[in-house]
Amino acid sequence: MIETVEGTFDVLPARFVKPNRVYQQIERWHLVESAAREAFRRYGIEEIRTPIIEKLELFERGVGTETDVNKEMFTFETREGSERIALRPESTASVVRAYIQNGLFNHTGLTKLYYIGAQFRHERPQKGRYRQFAQLGVEIIGQSDSPAIEAEVFEMLTWFFKELGISDTQLLLNSVGDEKCRPNFIAKLKESLKDKLPHLCGNCHRRYETNPLRVLDCKVESCQPYLNQLPRLTDMLCEECDAHFKELCAMLDERAIAYRITPRLVRGLDYYTKTAFEIVGGGKLGSQNTIVGGGRYDGLSEILGGPPTKGFGFASGIERILISLPDDSVARAKESPALFIAYLGDAARKHSFALARRLREEGVSVVVDLEGRKLKKALALADNLGANYALIIGDNEIQSQSYTLRDMQKSAQKTCSEAEIIAILKKD
Ligand code: HAM
Repeated sequence: MIETVEGTFDVLPARFVKPNRVYQQIERWHLVESAAREAFRRYGIEEIRTPIIEKLELFERGVGTETDVNKEMFTFETREGSERIALRPESTASVVRAYIQNGLFNHTGLTKLYYIGAQFRHERPQKGRYRQFAQLGVEIIGQSDSPAIEAEVFEMLTWFFKELGISDTQLLLNSVGDEKCRPNFIAKLKESLKDKLPHLCGNCHRRYETNPLRVLDCKVESCQPYLNQLPRLTDMLCEECDAHFKELCAMLDERAIAYRITPRLVRGLDYYTKTAFEIVGGGKLGSQNTIVGGGRYDGLSEILGGPPTKGFGFASGIERILISLPDDSVARAKESPALFIAYLGDAARKHSFALARRLREEGVSVVVDLEGRKLKKALALADNLGANYALIIGDNEIQSQSYTLRDMQKSAQKTCSEAEIIAILKKD
């Protein structure tokens, strides 16, 4: 038996899925994807689809070579050996590449794009962390770096989580400065880290050399007392970054959006400037509890060979959203058939298929027993499929053109004409 690759999984109708694997329930995926598309529609954000494979160099330049994301990439060479390819580990670099390559900068106004799709990272799989996972994300690219862009995105995310019934989230907010103030901060940080290094973990040591900002992000318990004494990014921002951050906070206050300033929040990708944020979820998630991550990336277009352009965006791990959904979400997203038709005999079979066709044309979802089961087994199947109603068709029904419609939940029956059946099923 050949099974799925480690860290990947199938998504199936909920009735085939083990109860603790809610991220494999297709009904939940549909619920989240449609709420996301509705949120994007309301905020005037348009869809973009980029390839799953990109040139490796895009991510080496885009996300930075000393980042975890870069080290976790799935890569291969083309058969000719002439090109190094990566399965995309994230989509921001791809979207900015598409923005440049398709000349979107020639059009007026901000470019507001969203994507929903698979990403690949060679991480150690655990709950909420997979090697193929899906993100839904937004990138807002253009000439403005007004914090109104961030504020509107946070407002949209607030609506999105409310719509899904996910209430236990928290917005963690920080500014990581820009090329004017960050080098200063890093110098101060290294200075302050020197005498603390002997007390810090191996990962901190490594990051001290390769990517000192990321030391702030260490989660190891024994490092915390030392890391808490380090200088704070928000105390050392240049005038421009400081004004941006304060204005953003004021706009969030105006919209009554709660946030927590988190001075040690630095993200695992190199392209961020100014705003960096995460939204963390509640207890259902366990240790992998970051549902959304994002920030501003005002230099990324230039890094990728495009014109000077500003950007802000986020991506959210869909599996983590699915794990966070309320327990009744599958029931709310019910996709089972409205009607199951069972029949007795040849004439009834023909009649059933014709009736089903007419009902489907009216927009009703109908399953006819294609395998000619005996009545009892057919009704058991209807129950199994979660059909709302069942019809049993025999010679009498064909002659009288009236049917016994059985309400599967209430186990009640009612004699109806075809028109009445359509009216009842459409109402449901
Ligand atoms: P990221 O923080 O690497 O940011 O990923 C964003 C979200 O993707 C995470 O918060 C998490 O929910 C989900 N995620 C990441 N890795 C995994 C995994 N192995 N399994 C399951 N879920 C995962 C980015 O990707 C940036 N491109 C976000 C961004 C957009 N910044 C600006 N624009």
